[in-house]
Amino acid sequence: MPTVANLLNHQCLLAARPQGAIKDSDFKFSSASVAQPGPGQLLVQNRFISVDPAMRSWMNDGKSYMEAVSIGEVMRAAGAGYILRSEDPRFQVGDAVTGIVGVQEFSVLEAKDAVKVDTGAAPLASYLNLLGIPGFTAYFGLLEVGLAKAGETVLVSGAAGAVGAAVGQIARIKGCRVVGIAGGPEKCSYLTQTLGFDAAVDYKSPDARKLLAQACPDGVDVYFDNVGGKILDMALSRLRMRARVVICGAVSQYNNTERGEGPRNYMSLLMYRARMEGFVIFDYAPRYAEAQAQLSQWLASGELRSQEDVLDGLAAFPSALRRLFEGGNTGKMLLRLGTDAATT
Ligand SMILES: NC(=O)c1ccc[n+]([C@@H]2O[C@H](COP(=O)([O-])OP(=O)(O)OC[C@H]3O[C@@H](n4cnc5c(N)ncnc54)[C@H](OP(=O)(O)O)[C@@H]3O)[C@@H](O)[C@H]2O)c1
Repeated sequence: MPTVANLLNHQCLLAARPQGAIKDSDFKFSSASVAQPGPGQLLVQNRFISVDPAMRSWMNDGKSYMEAVSIGEVMRAAGAGYILRSEDPRFQVGDAVTGIVGVQEFSVLEAKDAVKVDTGAAPLASYLNLLGIPGFTAYFGLLEVGLAKAGETVLVSGAAGAVGAAVGQIARIKGCRVVGIAGGPEKCSYLTQTLGFDAAVDYKSPDARKLLAQACPDGVDVYFDNVGGKILDMALSRLRMRARVVICGAVSQYNNTERGEGPRNYMSLLMYRARMEGFVIFDYAPRYAEAQAQLSQWLASGELRSQEDVLDGLAAFPSALRRLFEGGNTGKMLLRLGTDAATT
């Protein structure tokens, strides 16, 4: 068993509640001795930290769908790594796992909360992307909340990001016509040229409304919203009869210091007998295995393409998180840490 007695655990702590955009000073870096796992626990060396827009809401005071992170606490994060010590018979040293690890190099996890993953079947990073929460969110949000069917037009915002890229690709596999909304011509051509979207709309263009109308001449059956705000409003103006609007997230609103304005075009829901429904992926936890099996098959057959945007080192965490709000990332934003001590 590798010795961990002399290892230091570098950690990123929440130092302040941000006002508006995230600043470096909202975090503090510190180190502590690596904690030892007790009965039923695992010591994990983290290899990838998942960087998610939801982290911004966990930094605010008060509860959203999860408790706020306390000042001085290790910043909450999902992640993936390798077991260095196991005090649970179901896990062995060297096993790859995912879990809520925090922004730090080493974590002690309750074995019951860790998920063993097969790095022979897919790279470790995929389990934080298409084979993890972003993939599950896209899968259940599109098919169970959005009820997308072959032949329908699916419009998705944040389309070059982790969830959005998965939504568009799943919709394409299911035989839908797929239109993505993303920031800038480069991301738009990534959607059509690399991911096989039928059309893409650059929301930063002064002609965005016109471009959306051209891309969806017959309107939209499913709008999968990752960004909220003005883009949600623009999409509401394109609904077809009995359309479904899936509220997955509102990244354009997370840095607001005041509660954002509601959608102005909501009367479209009435006019087109449409519905708008939000969801939280954790409600689908009992069915993650079902989504993972299907997504793995599509990934293995090449029908789904996985893209990660990786920054190296714990110190890059504040910049990595900011990238999500500046549109700096294409694909799933990840932080990569160190080398794999479990296998070296
Ligand atoms: N409901 C759930 O259970 C659940 C689960 C997971 C994630 N989510 C939500 O899903 C959404 C996507 O998450 P993700 O992890 O896949 O992030 P992501 O899409 O990979 O990254 C965020 C993207 O949002 C876009 N963006 C940022 N600010 C914007 C603005 N003001 N207007 C328009 N677009 C903006 C940027 O792309 P551009 O360059 O195109 O601007 C950026 O790349 C988030 O809202 C997240 O909270 C919800």
